[in-house]
Order: sequence, then structure tokens, then C-alpha cells
Amino acid sequence: MFNKKTIRDMDFSGRRVLVRVDFNVPLEGGRVSDDTRIRAAIPTIEYLINQGAKVILCSHLGRPKGTPDPKLSLKPVAEYLGTLLDKAISFSDDCIGEQAAQHAAKLGAGELLLLENTRFHPEEKANDPDFAQQLADLADLYVNDAFGSAHRAHASTEGVAHLLPAVAGFLMEKEIKYLGEALADPAHPFVAILGGAKISDKIGVVKRLVDLADSLLIGGGMANTFLAAEGYEMADSLVEQEALETAKELLATSKNRLLLPSDLVIADRFENGAQTQVVAVDSVPQGWRALDIGPKTIDSFQVKVKQAKLVVWNGPMGVFEFENFAHGTYAIANTIAASEAISIIGGGDSAAAIQRAGLADRISHVSTGGGASLEFLEGKTLPGVAALLDR
Ligand code: 3PG
Repeated sequence: MFNKKTIRDMDFSGRRVLVRVDFNVPLEGGRVSDDTRIRAAIPTIEYLINQGAKVILCSHLGRPKGTPDPKLSLKPVAEYLGTLLDKAISFSDDCIGEQAAQHAAKLGAGELLLLENTRFHPEEKANDPDFAQQLADLADLYVNDAFGSAHRAHASTEGVAHLLPAVAGFLMEKEIKYLGEALADPAHPFVAILGGAKISDKIGVVKRLVDLADSLLIGGGMANTFLAAEGYEMADSLVEQEALETAKELLATSKNRLLLPSDLVIADRFENGAQTQVVAVDSVPQGWRALDIGPKTIDSFQVKVKQAKLVVWNGPMGVFEFENFAHGTYAIANTIAASEAISIIGGGDSAAAIQRAGLADRISHVSTGGGASLEFLEGKTLPGVAALLDR
């Protein structure tokens, strides 16, 4: 199934290895506030240390405008990783150039260096060949363990893989195996749950999952657009007018496998303290907006999840950042965690909800990729994986 070479296929002893990780983690007040992605990269990092590699880690963080931005420095991540591994980590203020080269040259076997945010250079996103070459010049070998960024054809995720012998890390391998095997031969009943604000981000996934799954449950803002496509008046709810035609087509071809909410929690304002009521989908009054799925919908979605042998979930059921509209998301999270089914959570907000609920260890696989897991579920080739050496 996974047809790429991995770190098991290389001899790293005494060699400098550039490792692309996805350390795009949330920072609050300059400190790491969710370390899931950092912890997920540890097996690869420890393996390389034990092999006696000279490890040069690189990543992006956030979306700087191609220029250094102190708020998006990876320095706090270097400190955090050092504490986690109980090991000194050197840090280079630039990911290329003299400073990076000097730090890399000083590394001993089993030592670690983290390079500053690759996106401080516009050439990273442009996948500029010279920039990729400068990254490649730091090392003898390349490992990509950044599943979360594998859908990006950037210099550090794709370009450099053509310039050095390039293999997958353990996290990359695990993500692709889990998601790939689940979809290649899904256990039935297969229940897919999609949420989040917009249909336009997920059209490809809806199309693929409606074919593969026995039921596709839709919640979150994207459900509003489907409901509007069915002719319901959604008042002030978020509805993507430009996606209405697509929503109609998807409903027409879904052979009743696509399940929409039957009731909603609506609010008079977009804030946690707004007035709320629960209404049927045909009774949203003017001036109100849907911010969560209602109790009847939760019940019917839970029935489907309880029957499932495979559950794939991506996207919250409501505005779960507001406590008062998080009920649908957490109810679904709890039901998935309690089920015997193979459970796969696409990254991003649904992974964050599972972490916050403390349920991650009761899920078969929580992906570290948001956009990457969506593109993979959609059946797209991920450039960061395609560029690695074939087995
Ligand atoms: C993510 O968080 O999904 C990845 O790190 C990719 O980040 P990006 O969407 O800014 O490219």
C-alpha cells in the first residue's frame, strides 16, 4: 500500500539529514499551546538520533508574508522540543545561508538543529529551485515527516526531495497507511461525517465519500448550504450562494446516502452569549442564524455512528469555539470515542475538538493533517509524498 522508501531503508550513521516536520503549531503568548504535531514527530527524530544522524529539522509556522515575523519564529518550538527530548537543540535564525551552514557543520552524531521558519523566505512557497538547493546543500539525505504539509508543493516539502535521496518518516508512513487502507477497502457500515463552515472547501471530499460511504452525515455551516439547496429558508445563517448549484447536484446524485440536520440550534447574534432556540430546519425565523445541530439531529447521527464499523470524521458540527454551540461537536466526538468502529479523525478543528475533550486515545487514528488529510481523502496525489523515492 505505502510504496515509498522510508527511514528504515537508509543508513544515517554520521550523515547530515534534513528532516521536514510540520511544526506549524498554535502559540499563545509565545509558548506552544498544542504540542500534538511536535509529539507526533518524535518517533522519527528519536530513530534518527539513535542511528547517529546529524539531524537538521525544518518547518514553516503560520503564514508570514515571505519576510521574517518575530511572532512566527520557531524559536519557542526549539525550546519546547529540547524540554520534551531532554536534549540541547541548536537553532539557526535563518533556514539558509552562512548561519544555517555553520550550525549544520558543527553538528555531531545524534545532535539536533532546528532551522528558522522556512516561510520567512518567499522562495519557500514559490518552490524556488535555488532556495531548494540551498536547503539541500545543508545535508546528505532528506526525510519528509510533515504529513500536515504534504499537500503543499513548496521548496522544503517537494523541491528539495528532488535534490537529495528522499524518504518518508514514520509519521508520514503511518498517516498514509491509515487513511489509505481505510478507504481502499472500507469496513461496512462506513459512516463519514463532514462539518465545518464551507462546502466549497470540501466538494471533492463530499463527492468521493458519498460514493464510498454508506452514510454521509453533514453538519456545521456547510449543512446550511445543503439545506438552502433543498429549499429551506436559512435567514441569517451562513449560506454559500455560489455553491448552491453544486449542493443541489450532490443531493441529486447522493442516492439518499447524504443526511442533513433535521433541527438546529439557532442564535440571534454570532456570539457565545447570544439568545438561542432549537427549531426544525423549516422554521428558522428572520434575523436568526444556525450555529449548531439540534438534539434530534444529534440522536439520528449517533444512531448511525453506533451502527458503523468505520467512521471518518472531518469538521465540527457547529461553531464549537463558542461553548454554547459546541454541544453537537462534542456529542459526536463522544459517540465516536465510545464506538467499537475503526475511527479516523481528519485533522484541523475536529482533531482539536477530540484533543480538548480528552478523547484522542480512544480514536484509532487522529490525523495531524487538516488540509492534507482532506486532499488525501479526496483521492488527490500529495506532492510531498509523490516526490519521495519509490520502494
Ligand atoms: C496545516 O496546518 O494544515 C499545515 O501546516 C499547512 O499549513 P498551510 O495551510 O499554511 O500551508
